[in-house]
Order: sequence, then C-alpha cells, then structure tokens
Amino acid sequence: MEDIRIGVIGHGFMGHEHEKMLLDFPGITLVGFSDIDPTQLEDVAPGLKRYKSNEELINDPDVNVVMVVCNNTAHHDLVIQAAQAGKDVICEKPVAMSVQELDEMVEACEKAGVKFTVHHQRRLDPDFRTAKAVYDSGTLGDIYTIKSSIYGFNGNMHDWHVYIKEGGGMLYDWGVHLLDQVLWMMPGAKIKSVFADIRNVINFEVDDYFKVLMRFDNNITAEVELGTYYLTDKMHDKWFERHWFLGGNKGSAYVDGFGPEGKIVRTSQLLQNAGHGRTMTSAGPTRSFGPPPEGRIITEPLPEVNTTHRQYFENYVRAWHGEEDFLVKIPETRRVLRLMDAVRESGRTGKSIDFE
Ligand SMILES: NC(=O)c1ccc[n+]([C@@H]2O[C@H](COP(=O)([O-])OP(=O)(O)OC[C@H]3O[C@@H](n4cnc5c(N)ncnc54)[C@H](O)[C@@H]3O)[C@@H](O)[C@H]2O)c1
Repeated sequence: MEDIRIGVIGHGFMGHEHEKMLLDFPGITLVGFSDIDPTQLEDVAPGLKRYKSNEELINDPDVNVVMVVCNNTAHHDLVIQAAQAGKDVICEKPVAMSVQELDEMVEACEKAGVKFTVHHQRRLDPDFRTAKAVYDSGTLGDIYTIKSSIYGFNGNMHDWHVYIKEGGGMLYDWGVHLLDQVLWMMPGAKIKSVFADIRNVINFEVDDYFKVLMRFDNNITAEVELGTYYLTDKMHDKWFERHWFLGGNKGSAYVDGFGPEGKIVRTSQLLQNAGHGRTMTSAGPTRSFGPPPEGRIITEPLPEVNTTHRQYFENYVRAWHGEEDFLVKIPETRRVLRLMDAVRESGRTGKSIDFE
C-alpha cells in the first residue's frame, strides 16, 4: 500500500510542531521542509530534506502530500500550485483569507483530483471535547447559552500577526478555531443572526479583541470572546484564561483551562416545583438571588474525554486510505470564512447580520 509522504512548506513555529508530531508517525513519512527564509531550515531534523524552494518541494516525486504551514496570505497560491502538481494538500488554518480565495483553491484541487483538508486540530482540544461531551449528553436539559472565551495579558502579537497585509489579527488567528469549535459542536444547527464587536484595544492595525454573538435556530445563543489585553488575576495555565460555560434549564457546566478543570452544577428539583421564599440580602429583598434551599444544588464531575492532537493525523492516515472521512471537511471551513465575513460586517456597521 502506498504510504503518505509529506513535504511541509514553512518551518516556523507551527512547522516545528508538525516536525515533532510527524518525525515518527505510523503511516506517514515526513520528507522535508522548504521555507522562504533559508535560515529557518538550519535546525531541520537530520535525515530530512531541506529544499531550496517551494517549487522544488512541490515537484519532488518523493512527496505526495504538501502541507502548507506558512503565513496566512501565502496559503492560496501554494495550495493551488501543489494541487496543479498533482499533490494532495493539508493547509493550516485559516485556510484562506476570503471565501473567494477558498473557492479558487477548491476548484484547483477538484480539477486535479487531489485530496484537500485543513489543520483544525483544536477540534481535538480536551476543553472543547469536554464541553461538547456535556452538550451531547443532554444532562443540562435544554441548553440556551454557550460561552467560549480566551483571555491573555500582553496584547501584542508576534511578527507578521500585527499586519493586515500578512493576514494578521486575532480573528484570523484564534477566531477561526473558536468559531469552528462552536459550529462543529452543534452539527445541523443553523445560525440565524450574528452580532460582533471587534476592537483594536492596543494594536493599531489588527484586531486584538472580539466578542461574537450567534443566535442559532436550536434556541441557543453562543458567545465567543477573545481578549489579548484582558487584565485579570484569574489565570489558568499561568498566563491566560480559557473558559467554556454551558447553561441549560437543568444545569450548568463550567469547563476551565485547557486541562480542563470544572464541574457540572445541577438542581435536585426543577425551579418551577420549588417552594422558594424571599430572602433579605445586602442588596435588598430577593427570591432570585438568595441562597438555594439546603441540598438543592448538586455538583457532578465533568465527563472524561480521550482526545489528543495526534488523533488529527491518525484520522488523516485512515481518511487518505479511504477508510473514513477527513475530520475537517472543506465546506465546514468555508462556512467559518462566511461567518467571519458576517462578523466583520457586524463589527463595521454595529448591526446584527442575518445569516443562513
Ligand atoms: N493549527 C494551529 O493551532 C496553528 C497554530 C499556530 C499557527 N498556525 C498557522 O500556521 C501558519 C504558520 O504560522 P506560524 O505561527 O508557524 O508562523 P511563523 O511566522 O512562526 O512561521 C511561518 C514560516 O513560514 C515561512 N514563510 C512565509 N512565507 C512563506 C512562503 N511564501 N513560502 C515558504 N515559507 C514561507 C516563514 O519564513 C516562517 O518560517 C499560519 O497559517 C498560522 O495561522 C496554526
């Protein structure tokens, strides 16, 4: 059986991550790297090829899959070149800068009859999979709100991420992951409308904060919020905060950090059946915000999930051999790009945008 022989374009941060993952991966041979900056190839692992150009890598008969892992704005041309050379393609996220770019890439791949997928390995993040397992279990009853957030301290982004012309900004960086996760959590649910607030809190050129509200036809409103300059003293993982919150009519789930930690909080008796007196609090008399009756609140552990980023490439190997579908399908990535257009339009106009 033919094996998968991958050449990777781009040996920056993510190129190094792929190198670590694929150096010794069942069913995959990592052939080598190209990079527009030859100094980036100096520490390529011994035994791997260091190509003089992207063209040399793309046209190498030893390579049958090209992985595009360089700056966002270079994805379009390189995916098309690889497809035209008859190579299957894996592209880093964001797959393209626009829906039009993606459509051109898809056309080239279809014309050449090559396989095309995108590296959305954050569909395998433990925090996301835990939140999805809670969602899928139905244990929270009718879910009405889902929040996904990530906050960091420093505000500044590195290298090309601060330039619009290089495809920088947080919406293209983390935004595609966070939106993709929410859409993938609820297959079949359509987004009725989108509202977004996109800001430059301390960066002049590219977005460093966004809040996106999506109203789904399954009665759920999902909120995705990211802040790179979000001053807080409640950090997980030392430097940043990552949270999921799911609220339903039978309970809530708190999923915190990438680990993750957290709990499910439920009530032993639904509110409509609970006799509930008025309580005097420091804020005045209240029913809603007083303490719950003794024993009413139950906490449960979060479900265990078995998920790692290796599974992305394990799926790739099986899917490449036709044994199952690719985890990431191109129409899903196209939907995220369309959603990002609506997010930008809402951010620009301050209005809610009808979608789907
Ligand atoms: N899936 C993920 O979790 C994840 C995480 C980080 C980055 N990424 C994506 O990976 C890609 C690379 O990001 P990064 O953080 O590694 O950036 P990086 O700046 O660390 O590395 C990019 C590398 O690509 C090279 N390069 C730029 N243009 C090129 C071209 N035309 N041809 C060949 N090489 C070129 C640069 O010299 C550099 O070595 C981006 O699309 C980014 O969005 C994905």
